[in-house]
Amino acid sequence: MSGTVPRLAGSLLLVLAAGASALGAAGSVQAQPGPRGTAVRPLGQIVPAPAQVSPAGGLFTLTPSARIRVTGDPREARQVGTYLAGLLRPSTGYALPVVEDRGHGTKGGHDIRLALTPASGGLGTEGYRLDSGPDGVTLTARTPAGLFHGVQTLRQLLPASVEKRTRQSGPWQVAGGSITDVPRYAYRGAMLDVSRHFFTVAQVEKYIDQLALYKINELHLHLSDDQGWRIAIASWPRLAPYGGSTEVGGGTGGYYTKAQYAQIVAYAASRHLEVVPEIDMPSHTNAALASYARLNCDGVAPPLYTGTEVGFSSLCVPKDVTYAFVDDVIRELAAITPGRYLHIGGDEAQSTSQADYVSFMNRAQAVVQKYGKTVMGWHQITSATPVAGAVAEYWGYDDTGAAERAQVAAAAKNGTRIVLAPADRSYLDMKYDENTELGQDWAGTVEVNRSYDWDPGTYLAGAGVPSSAVIGVEAPLWTETIVTNDDIEAMAFPRLPGIAELGWSPESTHDWNTYKVRLAAQGPRLTALGIDFYHSPLVDWPADT
Ligand code: ACM
Repeated sequence: MSGTVPRLAGSLLLVLAAGASALGAAGSVQAQPGPRGTAVRPLGQIVPAPAQVSPAGGLFTLTPSARIRVTGDPREARQVGTYLAGLLRPSTGYALPVVEDRGHGTKGGHDIRLALTPASGGLGTEGYRLDSGPDGVTLTARTPAGLFHGVQTLRQLLPASVEKRTRQSGPWQVAGGSITDVPRYAYRGAMLDVSRHFFTVAQVEKYIDQLALYKINELHLHLSDDQGWRIAIASWPRLAPYGGSTEVGGGTGGYYTKAQYAQIVAYAASRHLEVVPEIDMPSHTNAALASYARLNCDGVAPPLYTGTEVGFSSLCVPKDVTYAFVDDVIRELAAITPGRYLHIGGDEAQSTSQADYVSFMNRAQAVVQKYGKTVMGWHQITSATPVAGAVAEYWGYDDTGAAERAQVAAAAKNGTRIVLAPADRSYLDMKYDENTELGQDWAGTVEVNRSYDWDPGTYLAGAGVPSSAVIGVEAPLWTETIVTNDDIEAMAFPRLPGIAELGWSPESTHDWNTYKVRLAAQGPRLTALGIDFYHSPLVDWPADT
């Protein structure tokens, strides 16, 4: 079993002496000895770092008779309770019934209480409070999302072996004290490219579960590219079965029916992630152009494409049929997307003139608005005319030119909101070092410290992007070389938790030296979850991880 952090003498005193603290120092607070030679994770030794941690004496011990008591909207609170029970039952072997707490007898009982309390102040739409002690653990939040994020914190405070799906020995203890936690940014995303290689519903659901552990709340699905069209569109019926019939390297590809897409959306929602679908236009469209000859300026359909070049395809900007296509696709996709955003790509349009690009992107944005969605695009949309409320996703890197950055800054000053996904920081498909088998290195190699050690608030400040324009971060995973969940995990872990922390945790907690201690403590948890992560030499992983 690999579920404990190293035990160090005197650490209990250290925890008790720490008192109320921001988490800046918590990464260096050592484990607190529990009974039977086990160690209890210090409150706050989790990823992402919580906003505020106040350790106190005493421990919570989960016992076989414990219940999960829910208060507030019974359906919503019960859903979170049922999810928590599902996490804890296999490894603890405890029954953990989920019961409604009718407001009396809230003390004692060694229970876990989930309190959905719309009036609780200061917790916003995603925050939570955790109170832990000998009498029990209470999570309080205004929203189910807040309770759910609190559950992820509680989960990380328990021994890593709680993640195993077979019965483990415990003891199941949580350090005493309280955590009050709210996210720094509203948008904390991960993108999965299901076009270069197709991933099934089950594969995507597995990744969603992993993202939820780190409080990621946006799942951006890159649904179309040169190599495959992955969503069924009734008014253009050849797109998915033909345009989706291949992938990089020539495999059989695949696509989601609308029902399957709805299944992903519902699963993501059950983990409090919003799905952001992307149809990349006007370039990255060979799969569509191959499916319908009439979409091409010369009326000739190109062959399907299974290589990895970019920038060679373009929708035919002058043709009317292009806008009938865009309207149909966006209307049908918007209709099955409950989320706010619809991403229209706009990157690497190297085969489209700038005049055509501007004309096309401006028309495409209007269609997104017509169907009630917020426009999102890669940051090149700032070279067109971003509509009010648009979100530009910045994927530049250290080599990105000043003029391009200035264009993003001008848009940001004009109200365009920015999600930061710098390729040489947050792209999960960049190799860690020259020995990494999977991935690419066009933006350089990206070790775990490089991925973590930047500040979204000031990253583009030099170019003139006000920090108030930044709504969050995203970790994209392009899949030219990524085929399986094992491949996803090898590249996402352990960099994804770092990007998640940049999105969630206050700037005051940002410190590589304490982060790497907290990250090391994630090692046994990832292992218990069956995630074969990259053992960066920069992190002092526990020996049995
Ligand atoms: C991109 O990496 N082309 C957005």
